[in-house]
Amino acid sequence: MDPKDTAARYDQIAHWWQNEHQNSPYGIAQLERAIQFTSQRHSALDVGCGSSGRFIKTLFEHGFQAEGLDISREMINLAKQLHPEITFYVEDICRWIPPKLYSLISAWDSTFHLPLEAQEPVIEKLCNALEPGGVILFTCGGGHTNSEISGAFQGQNFEYSTLGVDAFLRILAKQNCTCRHLEYDQYPENHVYIVAQKI
Ligand SMILES: C[S@@+](CC[C@H](N)C(=O)[O-])C[C@H]1O[C@@H](n2cnc3c(N)ncnc32)[C@H](O)[C@@H]1O
Repeated sequence: MDPKDTAARYDQIAHWWQNEHQNSPYGIAQLERAIQFTSQRHSALDVGCGSSGRFIKTLFEHGFQAEGLDISREMINLAKQLHPEITFYVEDICRWIPPKLYSLISAWDSTFHLPLEAQEPVIEKLCNALEPGGVILFTCGGGHTNSEISGAFQGQNFEYSTLGVDAFLRILAKQNCTCRHLEYDQYPENHVYIVAQKI
């Protein structure tokens, strides 16, 4: 699915997302695990941050200068209302050029929506936007091969793609990022989170 279509669908459910996730602990323990590996706490970027602001809030509480990026204008409008002091970008991560290096980049349940062919260049780009010692956290579909699926969520049809965990680990290694943690955290769901650190 073209990222613009993904954005239009998330625009429709941005209010629901905020109400449902603003105080949710979903993904926060995993973010805190990633934070533990950081040696420096300068800038941090949450890719596909959505409207809840919960990752931004956690990053801020841990001393990062947090920024958020999302392709859905409505998600960002709502996130800004919660965090008016934070820098937000309304951008497609496939096209965005990082303006600086980050100590930590999170992409929780966001890059799994990218078209399959965008997976590798985006993960490479995020790795290249890390400072030495910087940490990346992202979720992906598990398994050993690439795949694409679609599914209905809150009345909207979404598409998902994955390269499989072996390919993601190869991409990370090629970008000098070493895997610090990989977990099927919702087993038997095919949901994986990976934490890697730039050497
Ligand atoms: C499942 S929501 C997760 C939101 C947030 N990470 C959270 O856990 O609350 C996926 C988010 O990724 C964003 N997204 C999807 N494709 C994107 C893209 N190409 N560039 C930037 N954001 C994208 C969506 O607009 C949506 O806000």
